[in-house]
Amino acid sequence: MRDISNIVILTGAGISAESGLATFRGPEGLWEGHRVEDVATPGAFVADPHLVQRFYDARRANLATVEPNAAHEALARLDAEWKGELLIVTQNVDDLHERAGAKRLLHMHGELKSAWCLACDTRSPSPDTLLDFPPCPDCGQKYLRPDIVWFGEMPYGMDDIELALMDADLFVSIGTSGAVYPAAGFVQTAKYRGARTLELNLDPSQGSIYFDESRMGPASELVPAFVEEILGT
Ligand code: OAD
Repeated sequence: MRDISNIVILTGAGISAESGLATFRGPEGLWEGHRVEDVATPGAFVADPHLVQRFYDARRANLATVEPNAAHEALARLDAEWKGELLIVTQNVDDLHERAGAKRLLHMHGELKSAWCLACDTRSPSPDTLLDFPPCPDCGQKYLRPDIVWFGEMPYGMDDIELALMDADLFVSIGTSGAVYPAAGFVQTAKYRGARTLELNLDPSQGSIYFDESRMGPASELVPAFVEEILGT
């Protein structure tokens, strides 16, 4: 881990699993019998808006019952103490990274706690439920949807992420299956630009072959050990 200054970290549902939030492709990954791919699309929202709102209302309600775990806390410590560049890119729509104290954080798939008004295109803090389409606090129209990037939509912050990957000396992927692009391709971009690549996951991800090193185990153990190691170099 010597000669490392710029770090990009990608996190996925696995980092929040030990906090009690189900992953997408695990055994509890179905919701009311639906795969996430069948609910998290603009087309699904048009076809059955109440189904989609219920899906995200349930996830938003779950946030109140969970706490950041040792992995989120370790990354927040890295953020506070790392003197070089750092960007934590999360695919997660929960708020556990920021509740642990992470600041250099980008939610590429949006946030449960944010609502997006389709009438006036503004974002505002989300009410607990969007099921009955409450009025937008800015324009008063009743077209609020979860501020979540659905399949077929462009993830947030791609320009900033690409720039960070170009300059990265180390790319670390934590708790993600590598099933969903563009996040699944970040390892290849970072590697092509000469970064060292490290995977911390319970099982090998779909892109495991692109990593210089893969460490398998629970995030609550692997991430604090990694942070200890990197801060000690
Ligand atoms: P997945 O559910 O696809 O993958 C979770 C990964 O975490 C798997 O590889 C597990 O092996 C691993 N895992 C589970 N428990 C773990 C633990 N305790 N410690 C470490 N690893 C663990 O979730 P994501 O890869 O995040 O997108 O899914 C990517 C995207 O697909 C999500 O952001 C979401 C979903 O559709 C949108 O909603 C747009």
